[in-house]
Amino acid sequence: MSSLSAPQTAGSPVPDFSDQTFRGAYSFRNSPAAIRRFPYPFAEDRYAYSMNVEPHLPGPAGSVFEHLFDIDEHYAAEVNDRAIVLRQDPSRCLALPHMMAAQWDMLELITTELAKSYPALFALERAGSRWRWINRPLGFDHTFTFGAAESLPPGPDGPVGPMEYIARQMQGDFTLLDQRDNNLWLDAGVLTSPGNWSLDFNLGMNFIEWHGPVPARPETQLFERALHYLMGLRVGAPVRRLNWSTTVEPRLDTGLEAYPDWGRHRQGVTRENLGEKLHMRIELQSLYRLPRSNAILFSIRCYLLSLADLVTVPGWGPRFAGVLQSLPPEIVAYKGLAPYIDPICDYLAAHAAA
Ligand code: HEM
Repeated sequence: MSSLSAPQTAGSPVPDFSDQTFRGAYSFRNSPAAIRRFPYPFAEDRYAYSMNVEPHLPGPAGSVFEHLFDIDEHYAAEVNDRAIVLRQDPSRCLALPHMMAAQWDMLELITTELAKSYPALFALERAGSRWRWINRPLGFDHTFTFGAAESLPPGPDGPVGPMEYIARQMQGDFTLLDQRDNNLWLDAGVLTSPGNWSLDFNLGMNFIEWHGPVPARPETQLFERALHYLMGLRVGAPVRRLNWSTTVEPRLDTGLEAYPDWGRHRQGVTRENLGEKLHMRIELQSLYRLPRSNAILFSIRCYLLSLADLVTVPGWGPRFAGVLQSLPPEIVAYKGLAPYIDPICDYLAAHAAA
């Protein structure tokens, strides 16, 4: 965790990234270390939709898989961005009333894991239902009663439930899925950095319904199989998958509600500025069965990497070009890639790292 921006120790050589933005001047940058640990998703020169789900086991030290929940150098900036979105649009945090037990489950899982993974940054003390939570990067030392939402300290915009309380201290989005009637239902979530979808629109939908727009071939039964697999998820045996897309500018909030703010960026891409403007967007999605509620926590942790940075890693550029050229037309259309494939491939060819 030497690369986290805050708190800074006097004379620390660690750069301070807390003032980076994912909007406005888009001052977000990746350090060389962040480029090296970027979860580049492709193991071969082609891509097709698949389950690609694997156990969420600890990975190598320093990798994004080292801990269940990855905290990195963009922590402060991402927490900031979430606060901006929630202030502008409270509909990015919604929970149906029956999801309260799941919200507490989520708070317990995240606080417990962060304290275990990053003891220099976070600490949790439990005395029965009396909990003390310390978040050193954000300067919090909070005491509350587990299970009593009114005992949680309010957020900057008013009272918060357990899901919002802890999500405001995390990188990445979260949804909580209720399991009933042989299906999973998207009944709560905090979504301030979605890839082109809307929590408000999808709230209350089931797994098959919210995947409706995805052009998976029906004969593969992809979502039916995924649903069946996830309904068997066990407590203590989380799983993960990677999803990829591209985005213009290093923008986290590409939610449908914010389309007027970011849709026009797509017209500003030229062959000259493509390397700086176009970003690969990786979602590290992890899923956890929760013990009291039997709900599933779906965590969507987002990583951005400009094409200019991507081509500095040997092999990544040519492989990405191979993947782009292999895509079936329906995936090109769904991912909004049609105008960009040729310019991206030309850029990757011109900048192939040795
Ligand atoms: C259970 C938690 C999950 C949630 C909340 C979720 C949610 C979503 C949403 C909202 C979309 C975008 C749909 C749209 O365009 O409106 C999507 C896309 C997709 N999801 Fe899921 N998903 C989940 C799990 C999975 C799993 C387990 C799989 C494995 C098969 C999967 C595969 C996909 C694929 C292939 C896409 C299209 C991605 C792309 O082309 O960029 N999802 N998901």
